[in-house]
Order: sequence, then structure tokens, then C-alpha cells
Amino acid sequence: MVLQELLGIELPVIQAPMAGVQDSALTIAVSNAGGLGSLPCAMLSPDQILCELRAISAHARGPYNLNFFCHRPASYDEVRELAWRRRLQPYYREFGIDPSSIAPAQGREPFNRAALELVEAFRPPVLSFHFGLPEESLLARVKASGAKILASATTLSEALWLESRGVDAIIAQGLEAGGHRGMFLDASLSGAAPFVGQLDSQVGTMTLVRQLVRRLSLPVIAAGGIADASSVAAAIALGAAGVQAGTAYLLCPEAKTSALHRAALASDAAANTAITNLFTGRPARAIVNRLMRELGPRDTSLPDFPLPAGALAPLRSAAQNRQSADFTPLWCGQNLPGCQSVPAAEITRGLAAGLKQA
Ligand SMILES: Cc1cc2nc3c(=O)[nH]c(=O)nc-3n(C[C@H](O)[C@H](O)[C@H](O)COP(=O)(O)O)c2cc1C
Repeated sequence: MVLQELLGIELPVIQAPMAGVQDSALTIAVSNAGGLGSLPCAMLSPDQILCELRAISAHARGPYNLNFFCHRPASYDEVRELAWRRRLQPYYREFGIDPSSIAPAQGREPFNRAALELVEAFRPPVLSFHFGLPEESLLARVKASGAKILASATTLSEALWLESRGVDAIIAQGLEAGGHRGMFLDASLSGAAPFVGQLDSQVGTMTLVRQLVRRLSLPVIAAGGIADASSVAAAIALGAAGVQAGTAYLLCPEAKTSALHRAALASDAAANTAITNLFTGRPARAIVNRLMRELGPRDTSLPDFPLPAGALAPLRSAAQNRQSADFTPLWCGQNLPGCQSVPAAEITRGLAAGLKQA
């Protein structure tokens, strides 16, 4: 009951925030089903967050979670940008794209003062952070707002770092997880692309949960491959206080997953995922598509997160216009069977059934 009491929820089931594939409709559906619905804010402007918060306040009966990225802002490196564009040159030619017409890559704001002001005004019950934590002064004000704080760890060292900074619970994100890995303690050699060199030492969800449960006094939330009642039962048996599931919700009618992404998830191709940094510069798990197959899933000389997306954008939209996801990031975890086209409340109840089996 630790997690339910901490977060004020009926079921210790958290719907993973998933930037780009959902809005408040999914958050509300899961919160109303007794789980913790999440709203990913990483790709939203403060005005968009405000609009979503108003919808959640109007329609959610239970607590909800606002999720932010805490990456280091990108610094532009012309050598890396040009090298990346050179690798994409054959594709620009194929699609008749003039590389000089491509807009400069845009950075993305991590959690900042504008986001903090929204938090202070709306007082969301829970905040979760990916890629570390906000700087100390911002974090202190988030805590003072009364929000409970969750953060992702992909290793024991990251979890201990988060615990020492006073988070309320840790999301143990195992290697099976879809989307971006929350890695934030970078041990790469200088000059190498951040985090890529550390992928070999990342561990699966069950191992990570066990490592964290043994060392931390905080509740541990298992994430990665949690797709059905049996995987929930296994995570709880290993000591997790709750679970966070993302991929399982991707085909729900309340998600905004694109038609191309839905088709890929429902196809045999979804059984073949890999960790790639090609789409944003940071490692993330996606269904293997043409770009990943032809270039290889990882490149150690890419521009900073999320700048590689800029040079890819025209290819992505040109291919999508031809109904092709060859250049689209098809984020997806390794455990697909629980990902079904049914309402989010049904997915939430199906996962929660595992609590009785544990
Ligand atoms: C499509 C997609 C988008 C994601 N976006 C985010 C995000 O915006 N913020 C975040 O903290 N985690 C994000 N994640 C990672 C999830 O929080 C979680 O770790 C992962 O979904 C768990 O693994 P599973 O997909 O096997 O359930 C995303 C995952 C997916 C599949």
C-alpha cells in the first residue's frame, strides 16, 4: 500500500508519460480508472500545458502526474551537424530534398521557470522527471508546492543519486522499456556521444528492480516490459511497490498514436525493436525501420539531444506523405502482448489484476 498512500491512488499502476503520442485524454482515462494518469510535457509549450491542465482539472477524478525532461540544453556543433547531414545525403537525393532548405535544428527546453510557475499555480499532485532532476533551486520550489516527486533511474548509481536529492519514489526503467532511456549519469569518454557507450551495462527490469529494492528505502516502481497481469505480479514479487507501463497503452483509443505507428505496433515488425540514438541523439527503444537498418541503430558522432531530429524532419514528413514510417521514430518496448486496441481503463484493470496474483 506504500505507493497508493504516497500518491493517493487506488491502484499502484502508473500510465507512463509518452511525449508525442498522447495528451490529457489518456491521462484522464487512467486516473478515472484508479491508476495514475500521466501527462508528458516535454514537447509542449507553457500555453499547451496550461490547456491540458485545465482539461485534466475538469475531468480527472483521481490524482495525475505531470512529466518533464531534465536534459542539459543542446549546444550546437557545426561539425557534428554537417556530418549528420552528410550521412543523410543519399536520402535527401532520393526524396528530392534540397539540404540547404532545411531549417536549423531546434533545441528543446528542459524543466524551467515557466514550467515551475505552472506547477506553483496548479499544484499537480505528482511530478515525474526523466533524464535526471531540475537544478536545485527549481527542485526545492517543486517540493514546496507539495507535489510528490518521481524520477527515472536506469542504474543503481542513478537511483542512489536521486534518493540523495530527496525524490519520493524511483522509477526503475529496465532495458526492455520503449522510448527514451532515462540515463543521466554520463560516463562516456569525452567527445563520444553521451550514453551510447554505456548501453552494454544497462540491465533488464527485473534485475534493476531487485538491485534497487535491496539498496533503497524508497518505493521502487518497475518500468519496462510491464505489459500484462503476470508481469505486474512478477515485479511485485521482486519487491516493486508499483509499476509504470507505456507500450501497453499505445493502441488505446484515448492515445494519439499515429496511424503509421499503430500499424507498425500491430504488425510482425514490432517484435524487432532496438535501442537507437539516430532520431534524437539519445538512446531510445524503437521498432527497427529502414533508417535504423540502413545506418545501423547507433551513431557516436551525432549532434546533441534533440538536434538530430531537425535534419531528419523533411525526410520523415516526405516519407509519411507516402504512408511510410521509414524515417519515423516508432517508439516501442520489447513486451508487446499487452498492447491492445482497448480502452485505457481496461488496460489499467488488466495490469492491476496482477496485484492479486503476486
Ligand atoms: C512512445 C513512448 C514515449 C515515451 N515518452 C516518455 C516521456 O515523454 N517521458 C518519460 O518519462 N518517459 C517516456 N517514455 C518511457 C516510459 O516512461 C517508460 O519508461 C516505458 O514506456 C516503460 O516501458 P514499456 O514501454 O515497456 O512499458 C516513453 C515510452 C514510449 C513507449
